[in-house]
Amino acid sequence: MYLTADEEKIYNGESGETLAKCMEILVTLGEIYGADRLIPVRSVQVAGVSYRTIGDAGLEWIRDLRAKTRVPTILNPAGMDLKDWKKMGINEDFAERQLEIITAYEHLGVRPECTCTPYHIHNDLAHFKDHLAWSESSAVSFANSVIGARTNREGAPSALAAALIGKTPNYGLHLDENRRPTLTIQANGKLDDSDFGSLGHIAGPLVENKIPIFEFEVKPTLAELKQLGAAMAATGSVALYHIKELTPESELYPQPAETITIEWNEIKEVYDCHCEPDLIAIGCPHLGPEELTKLAKLLKDKQVKKELWIFTSRKLAKQHPGEVNKIKKSGAKLFCDTCMVVSPASERFKCMMVNSGKALNYVPKLCGVKCTLGTTKECIHTAVTGEKR
Ligand code: F3S
Repeated sequence: MYLTADEEKIYNGESGETLAKCMEILVTLGEIYGADRLIPVRSVQVAGVSYRTIGDAGLEWIRDLRAKTRVPTILNPAGMDLKDWKKMGINEDFAERQLEIITAYEHLGVRPECTCTPYHIHNDLAHFKDHLAWSESSAVSFANSVIGARTNREGAPSALAAALIGKTPNYGLHLDENRRPTLTIQANGKLDDSDFGSLGHIAGPLVENKIPIFEFEVKPTLAELKQLGAAMAATGSVALYHIKELTPESELYPQPAETITIEWNEIKEVYDCHCEPDLIAIGCPHLGPEELTKLAKLLKDKQVKKELWIFTSRKLAKQHPGEVNKIKKSGAKLFCDTCMVVSPASERFKCMMVNSGKALNYVPKLCGVKCTLGTTKECIHTAVTGEKR
């Protein structure tokens, strides 16, 4: 892999041990995947934030780094609401370690905003054709597919290395030839809301290592695209998809030779997972403004009978105080900086009802909690009546 004279110097340790280590991570990755060079990135999103996931070893690793980020860098959700962690039932020891992780990242120049939907709160992080180094799979999918920016799915160390160097190796989804659709997926029936998470849940494993292009009867909304991509990235490893006549790169390439069809019945069958929910959790991926408004309307003048947790970014919550008040008045709890999957707070429940195909896949595996899928309206109905529709 070609390195400029300045990059060589960093690699050889002339800018210190931390940057040499970062350069080694990027060069090793680049050589494994056949990158020709390093390319500058506009922004970085770093996963590996929850104390539950990275533990003391991860904290020590971040603390030992001596450098500053060179591009805007934002964090993935942490293991708790950084302010209201007591309301989540998080214990003092966990909270202390989690806050130490955030402080360690801040010392590196990372913005202490913990969200998997940074595109809802910043418009300087990703534009069409920008190169990025993002980590969280749903954020990666959204950036590539909906924004038309370019990022591989980075691990926590490679994302942080990219943040501190300001560059990433040029391979994979950074290259035009790897963004061409290779499988058409026709989804039959008029889909809505959580149907897109359900579809993504089914499509993920079917896609394998191909790039899908979807054909829909009715064009999905941004929130629905987010659900589709998040679920496909969770059940498969899909980091880029196109939607015919909708997403920015969908018309740039020839149509694929292979087509599969997913029927409406198959999509509806994903809702048939039964358990009696003691927690309803909404906000995977973190809510955007449309979804927050929709929830505020659904909860207006209602009182919840079951525990209802709603997740979004702190900045978005601050920007929408009216909606947040309506949600909180219903007795629902709105948490920021975290989510039902990465926080240990979910583990004390037996069955979680979600409107997200990604959470449906991850909650049983990562939290050991049974999970059932509903539409957003069904989730709210269950929360306010105490009964599953
Ligand atoms: Fe985001 Fe947590 Fe879901 S990080 S995509 S809300 S699992």
